[in-house]
Amino acid sequence: MQIYINKAHILSEINNFKIVTNPLIEHYLSVIRDKKSSQEIFRNAVKKVSYALIYEASAFLPLKEKEIETPVQKTIVKTFDESNQVILAPILRAGMIFCQSAFEMLPFANVHHIGMYRNEQTLEPVWYYDKNQPILKDKSKVYVIILDPMLATGNSGNDAINNFISKGILEENITFMSLISSPEGVCNMHKKFPKVRIITSAYDKGLNTKGYIVPGLGDIGDRIYNT
Ligand code: URA
Repeated sequence: MQIYINKAHILSEINNFKIVTNPLIEHYLSVIRDKKSSQEIFRNAVKKVSYALIYEASAFLPLKEKEIETPVQKTIVKTFDESNQVILAPILRAGMIFCQSAFEMLPFANVHHIGMYRNEQTLEPVWYYDKNQPILKDKSKVYVIILDPMLATGNSGNDAINNFISKGILEENITFMSLISSPEGVCNMHKKFPKVRIITSAYDKGLNTKGYIVPGLGDIGDRIYNT
């Protein structure tokens, strides 16, 4: 049995939710979804989509102006304001596939690994690791991007968000970046944390009884790590 919820109804009520799409993303998603794609092809396709998601997930980062000199003349440019802190938070293990490209694009970020696995019976997250990073005193200057390719039930994502909020991070400074989202996950996260931005490249039909996204791509950890 599959549990679907009415997507049109949800989308009309949800702010802070963006589906990043274009023909290239659609093409790579078709490779990612195809069970015949090898692990190497799968990983490469996820990496390619991840860059597009990172651009979108970093749309809110604060900039400052500075003067530089081009070979032609002096000019004012905008650059990341390093008095702020960016934390990349991959949820292990699948989140690591996003982390490499996100860190490449945001080399000034700190990486905060979150270890969680899903209890297959309850579908609730079980924590096993929370690598604390020093966080700026002024929490209004701390921006967190949680990296988790599958927003399925939303339970792990919500736990991760809650964990950062308990450390004083502002809800509006948190972004959740996923490859594929389910209506249930988006709804669950948005209900609890309406100010968190959700960035994704696909919004699927729903979840099956095992908590897998349908049509989805299967178990992403198994497909990344050949397990
Ligand atoms: N985790 C996965 O790996 N796949 C899903 O479809 C949902 C959660």
